[in-house]
Amino acid sequence: MSRVVVTGRVPDAALEKLRTKHEVDAWAGPESIGREELLRRVAGADAVVSLLTERIDSELLDAAGPQLKVVANVAVGYDNIDVPACTERGIVATNTPGVLTEATADIALGLILSATRRLGEGERLIRSGQDWKWGMFFLLGSSLQGKTLGVVGMGGIGQATARRAKAFGMEIVYQSRREIDPVLADELGARRVELDELLAVSDIVSLHCPYGPATHHLIGAEQLAAMKDTAYLINTARGPIVDEAALASALREGQIAGAGLDVFENEPSVHPGLLELENVVLVPHLGSATVETRTAMAMLAADNALAVLEGERPPAPIG
Ligand code: GLV
Repeated sequence: MSRVVVTGRVPDAALEKLRTKHEVDAWAGPESIGREELLRRVAGADAVVSLLTERIDSELLDAAGPQLKVVANVAVGYDNIDVPACTERGIVATNTPGVLTEATADIALGLILSATRRLGEGERLIRSGQDWKWGMFFLLGSSLQGKTLGVVGMGGIGQATARRAKAFGMEIVYQSRREIDPVLADELGARRVELDELLAVSDIVSLHCPYGPATHHLIGAEQLAAMKDTAYLINTARGPIVDEAALASALREGQIAGAGLDVFENEPSVHPGLLELENVVLVPHLGSATVETRTAMAMLAADNALAVLEGERPPAPIG
């Protein structure tokens, strides 16, 4: 029997699965586990099932000890894990790709619609108790049909977002390390372009790339200035891909028309400049937040941890 530490609350089904074979120590507090407590608990663990709010770095791996075999992140993004530090120690790191693709693309589409059709503004207006009535020019937004979606990072979630946008009558361009499957590209009518061209031609720019040194502030003042002044920026990937201060200023100055953000540079803080603007929709990192998806993510993380503990290849190793 091995010792599995789960760093935060996850659906019971995943804990039960782990408990059939191993001793499980799961943090059950309403708040995130504190760093000191986490370092103390991981000592002697054979597996750590981690949430994206916990930093898994050399300090933590050393605190766990040399018996640690696997870090199973309950997220597709793994910028919270120092993967080279795991590899150096022979620890397998895993994530949860695939199972959250559709839910996250749904949120991207939701943000696209909310931003372009000014749903947040409308909601705030009604709740404020102000007088309003239907008017020909009241809260006019922008249509999607015939507009261009620029997808930055055309992995599973980017592709799922593009599929949805296509169903809304949009044209698709994308920037990605790899060309997508030609059959899918054909189906979507999707054209691969460089970031500069994508920014210049897109009416909606939606970010779906992983976060790392190469994508830190990928969208900054210069890139925002290169977008159309009628365009919208959507981020459901990771906050620090966007320079939030530059975005607040671009939105305030009307350099772009609006934005929809599910992720933030310093979560849970949000740049104060964004909070005062009407033309940005802000939601608190809800991309994968459905009961079904979170259960599937936790189950996949459990399967990853169990496989490594059995000496097998996990379903979703990183790298
Ligand atoms: C959520 O943000 C994830 O990476 O799964």
